[in-house]
Amino acid sequence: MYATCRICSGSVKGTIDLGSHPRGNAFPKPGETADEFFYPLVVGMCDSCTMVQLMADIPQEVRYHDSYPYYASGSSVHRGHFEGIAQGFLDTELTGPDPFIAEIGSNDGVMLAKIAQAGVRHLGIEPSRHVAELSMAKGVRVHSVFFDEHSARPIRAEHGPADVIFGANVIAHIAHLASVLKGVKHLLGPRGIFVFEEPYLGSVVEQTAFDLLYDEHSFVFSVRAIQAAAEMYGLELVDAQLVAIHGGSMRYTLSQPGAREVTPGVGELLAAEAAQRLAEHSTLEAFAGRAERIRDDLSALLGSLHAQGKRIAGYGAPAKTTTVTNYCGIGPDIVPFVSDSTPSKQGRLIAGSHIPVVPPEVFAADYPDYALLFAWNHAEEIIAKERAFSERGGRWILYVPDVHVI
Ligand code: TYD
Ligand code: ZN
Repeated sequence: MYATCRICSGSVKGTIDLGSHPRGNAFPKPGETADEFFYPLVVGMCDSCTMVQLMADIPQEVRYHDSYPYYASGSSVHRGHFEGIAQGFLDTELTGPDPFIAEIGSNDGVMLAKIAQAGVRHLGIEPSRHVAELSMAKGVRVHSVFFDEHSARPIRAEHGPADVIFGANVIAHIAHLASVLKGVKHLLGPRGIFVFEEPYLGSVVEQTAFDLLYDEHSFVFSVRAIQAAAEMYGLELVDAQLVAIHGGSMRYTLSQPGAREVTPGVGELLAAEAAQRLAEHSTLEAFAGRAERIRDDLSALLGSLHAQGKRIAGYGAPAKTTTVTNYCGIGPDIVPFVSDSTPSKQGRLIAGSHIPVVPPEVFAADYPDYALLFAWNHAEEIIAKERAFSERGGRWILYVPDVHVI
């Protein structure tokens, strides 16, 4: 199976086929599952620019509907992370006269609220009106549009060039990334930086994190592919740093060509990627084989626990839950509910597998024997918070990088 590369129009070879899947964040209500949207979840790499991407085109309207229930402030660790990023910008890049920072996909304003408090000129660019409204309540200025080469023009005309353009867990979502890079080129000041952090292909491959593949993740970035994409659209990759969030992310810094010195980290990471053979189709084929192994091991473990009469609950309903439950065939017969702290997900179902999402009180009221940790990227925070569950003999099931019980 081949597709056309969204970055360079080269040929993308599909190597990871996880079957047919619904949208990761659809969360249908009970009784609203008749017309679920399914697409083939196949991911591959471009032969020319090495960008790893989703083969299918998901219509934008079905992706960012107004009830999109993702809130970046939902986790205290994430909140601290984004406040730290804001402080870092305030201390380094935003110290000149009347600086300006724009954030693509500002979500509920978790990062920009701190910028707004400091009285620094800013603009959140957030197409999802519902979360945009939450950030306005925090005093954050938001423009409700999709960022691309067209919307960048009036933004620059009104606000001037940006000292910083930021994006977190959003740039890899945008299928029209080429147009975003053109927009960034236009909006970014001569010494400005475009900083974004996204799940990292090296970490995804290393941990066999197959559940990070879903409809919203149009791309899984590597340093090599981002360097190539930046160059193609008149920008330069000047820094890359690993970030321990979402199970392994990379923070990329782009600038206008020649505006900044390239840090040694870029070369080091490129060398590490070459050693990991990250730009080879066979690496992705091996990944697919390991994902199948995890699927078989997890199904076997859950089946055997169920046969022994053990009670199993799911914990956390990130979009990843949709991939893993549909790929592994896990339904409410084996996992009768998933506990999640996000009110807008509660009372709804995991798409496709139809496991009901319930509030954490349901989990705490009658602890199950096992909790299948879907939000494994928050493992440390969650396991610490749910000490009472472990103390009463409850065990956690994790499936990344392999199936294990703790
Ligand atoms: P997250 O990994 O932030 O999002 P994504 O869908 O992009 O992968 O999602 C974590 C989910 O786990 C979110 O729905 C909230 C839930 N959660 C809990 O229920 N309890 C917790 O203590 C934490 C940290 C998260
Ligand atoms: Zn390409």
